[in-house]
Amino acid sequence: MADTKDATSSNQMWGGRFASGPDAIMEEINASIGFDKKLFAQDIRGSIAHATMLAEKGIISPEDKDQIVSGLNTILSEIESGQFEFSRKLEDIHMNVEARLATLIGPAAGRLHTARSRNDQVALDFRLWVKEELTKTERMLTDLIAAFLDRAEEHAETVMPGFTHLQTAQPVTFGHHCMAYVEMFGRDRARVRHAIDHLDESPIGAAALAGTGFPIDRHMTAKALGFREPTRNSIDTVSDRDFALEFLSVAAICAMHLSRLAEEIVIWSTPQFGFVRLSDAFSTGSSIMPQKKNPDAAELVRAKTGRINGSLVALLTVMKGLPLAYSKDMQEDKEQVFDAAENLELAIAAMTGMMRDMTIREDRMRAAAGSGYSTATDLADWLVREAGLPFRDAHHATGHAVALAEKKGCELAELSLDELKAINPAINDKVFDVLTVDASVASRQSFGGTAPSEVRKQIAYWRGRN
Ligand code: ARG
Repeated sequence: MADTKDATSSNQMWGGRFASGPDAIMEEINASIGFDKKLFAQDIRGSIAHATMLAEKGIISPEDKDQIVSGLNTILSEIESGQFEFSRKLEDIHMNVEARLATLIGPAAGRLHTARSRNDQVALDFRLWVKEELTKTERMLTDLIAAFLDRAEEHAETVMPGFTHLQTAQPVTFGHHCMAYVEMFGRDRARVRHAIDHLDESPIGAAALAGTGFPIDRHMTAKALGFREPTRNSIDTVSDRDFALEFLSVAAICAMHLSRLAEEIVIWSTPQFGFVRLSDAFSTGSSIMPQKKNPDAAELVRAKTGRINGSLVALLTVMKGLPLAYSKDMQEDKEQVFDAAENLELAIAAMTGMMRDMTIREDRMRAAAGSGYSTATDLADWLVREAGLPFRDAHHATGHAVALAEKKGCELAELSLDELKAINPAINDKVFDVLTVDASVASRQSFGGTAPSEVRKQIAYWRGRN
């Protein structure tokens, strides 16, 4: 390094006008290396693309470029093999890498930062990281959807109670219920793809905020780094964190879906419901109550939604009211995204495992499906269809039948024909065909309905796009 100030005095990367170094607290609040070292691979890739472009455009010499690129590759392997010493005095990943480059190759290192700033550099590194994370999330959602499709196929005919207000509503199939989650995670995956599409623009070359007077080629670096095109406004480029917020929004919605599933699994696995049995691999025992099998993984997935929502709100709050362009506030973006990403990955993986492993207790689901007068709507529909009653009157007559069954402590199908005829004389013995759960489920063949034939069509549709 040409100007070799030692690290205890002013900062060796930007300290030209500073007489002394920062206060210890200043150093602590300012440094981001503790978390942004995660961006090392993206930082080095970005610098290699930038240096290559600078040489192509004649801004630096080919010899300097070669030294820079080989030095950066050395640093990459040093970091990957755990030999690199990160320094808090050097604040962040960008300056840690550049300072090491100076030690390795000497003065040529100082040419790397030509026509760029840490503002466009950090925007680049972070975008690259978020893009990779979104791509991973997309793959993981595809696996999760595949797990649901398999279970749906297996249980296209398995009846269970469908709920509204968590009260028994109408019989559905477990396959249909699984396909509801396929729709949700399918939308999440579509949101992930949109987010990738939105962020697919390269920030590098926006420099501090105004662009640069050097004859750079931003299309060249965009292409080298796998972006569709360069961003179009240098001020927006260094002040924008929408890509991080979009990641967090997508993550929050997906975590919300996962937590609804988690809650259902918690309910279904209680002895009172007993719809599913969790595998040993995804449950725990109690240290005091030997009979217990706790759905801890599902509970934790339910809880993780809290911190992911928290990250979204935290970054929205950081960005709210920030004047253009870059402000150091924006350094607070990374931990939120890293934490949300780590926990979303865990939650998706845990749910995929739980869904694949859990035992579906068809007998319990069937017994529950037939209780709670779940076929009352079928009786009302039958009165409309076969006896020509207006639906409101049919609803009323069915209400009488439910009240009678409740009084007798039996199911609707257990009422006698005479009892039903007393409620409405148009009722005949064909009515019993629609009062069973299987008949109820099989009759709901409207598009997207719960009939096994319909559910199979939807499974085929999703198989084709998974
Ligand atoms: N560590 C900083 C961040 O994460 C890098 C950008 C610093 N830029 C600056 N002008 N101080 O935001």
